Amino acid sequence: MYKKKCFYNQSLKNLNTFAIDVKAKQIVFVKTINNLIKISKKCKLYNIPYIILGEASNILFLKNYIGVVIFNRIKGIQITEQKNSWLIHVFSGEKWHNLVKLTLNLGIFGLENLALIPGRIGSAAIQNIGAYGLEFKDICEYVEILSLKNYKTIKIQKKFCQFSYRNSIFKSKYNHKYAVIKVGIKISKNWKPIIFSSLNNYIKKKNITAYQIFNIICQIRKNKLPDPKKTGNAGSFFKNPIVTKKKSQQLLSLYKNIPNCPQKNGLVKISAGWLIENYQFHNIQIGDASIYQKQKLILINKKNATSQDIITLARIIHSCILKKFHISLEPEIDFIGSFGKIYSSKFFNLKT
Ligand code: FAD
Ligand code: EPU
Repeated sequence: MYKKKCFYNQSLKNLNTFAIDVKAKQIVFVKTINNLIKISKKCKLYNIPYIILGEASNILFLKNYIGVVIFNRIKGIQITEQKNSWLIHVFSGEKWHNLVKLTLNLGIFGLENLALIPGRIGSAAIQNIGAYGLEFKDICEYVEILSLKNYKTIKIQKKFCQFSYRNSIFKSKYNHKYAVIKVGIKISKNWKPIIFSSLNNYIKKKNITAYQIFNIICQIRKNKLPDPKKTGNAGSFFKNPIVTKKKSQQLLSLYKNIPNCPQKNGLVKISAGWLIENYQFHNIQIGDASIYQKQKLILINKKNATSQDIITLARIIHSCILKKFHISLEPEIDFIGSFGKIYSSKFFNLKT
């Protein structure tokens, strides 16, 4: 569909999974690092803002973008074999799910729990994507970045990536200062299944294979999550809140069945979907923005929702959850204004 590389003053509706109808002054698809550097230099020369995106599956465009939206399509995969593991070097414009399928077909097992997550490889590292007991950080070896100041590349080893729940140094300190170019993924040859608690009902067999886990997870996700091709959404709108043990005990004494997951640092992750479901927002809808019925952590664009509809709905949810449970939900997605990223604290009171 997008054979041309460059568009002017076009709508981004088909190019963001929330299907928000905003325009960008220019839309470019880049396939090489040199091309990315060229565009970045030109934007700087003419003082035009630019933003690098993968599939725009974790963002909400708030307004028309006055600069260049760069969709990263820099591709390439190289696999090297080590004694006990596989090392996979992947350029950041590859599709995440394609890598999961490719490795599985090659008999390299270990990515199956992260099946069907939309988006590109670069964002997988930036977001530290996660699902069903596995996070990107668990299989990361390094992340290679390009300075958008001096255009030198730097390889950051995993221990310096500051990965945490849906976060990394690329999302915080290095945000918009570097482009993620390539990642290194290390997969042990000694495969062991990861059976996260929410998979227990589906997986009974002892000698389950990676293919079976892949298929089960694809099935669960297809049943539970809205397909962005049909219904606009960006996955979980809010993060699952991580609270103190004391706070989790207070909540559990009042609401015995809140799904909760103790963390290694003594804190406890609480299900935001449960909080929203149990607030009982009956068929709430703002314009065309609504809550997805099968998974309440996901906000949807039923057809022609504006970003304002989505923000208004999210603010209502945020303030109701704060009032009832004394928990301040933090958005999981990025907000993109006319000039670039806008911090969510602008819209939500993020303190409890
Ligand atoms: P984008 O939305 O395009 O970009 C995200 C951010 O990264 C932006 O700020 C962008 O500027 C920046 N960025 C992107 N590429 C680069 C680069 N190369 N260099 C520098 N900055 C860059 N996420 C999960 O973790 N687990 C899930 O299970 C999950 N399920 C989902 C289900 C659905 C239906 C949807 C729609 C989303 C889901 N997500 C999930 C969220 C989303 O898929 C991930 O966050 C994904 O990694 C985003 O990839 P993207 O390429 O679309 O990133
Ligand atoms: N729940 C409810 N009602 C809901 C949703 C969830 O009660 O509407 C409860 C249920 O008890 C359910 C539990 O919460 O068993 C967990 O729900 P689910 O497995 O759907 O996971 P989640 O915590 O809502 C997180 C990630 C997802 C990821 C899944 C699977 C975040 C913010 N979201 O959702 O990632 O796919 O786990 O592991 O951590 C995303 O980041 O965009 C995303 C979709």
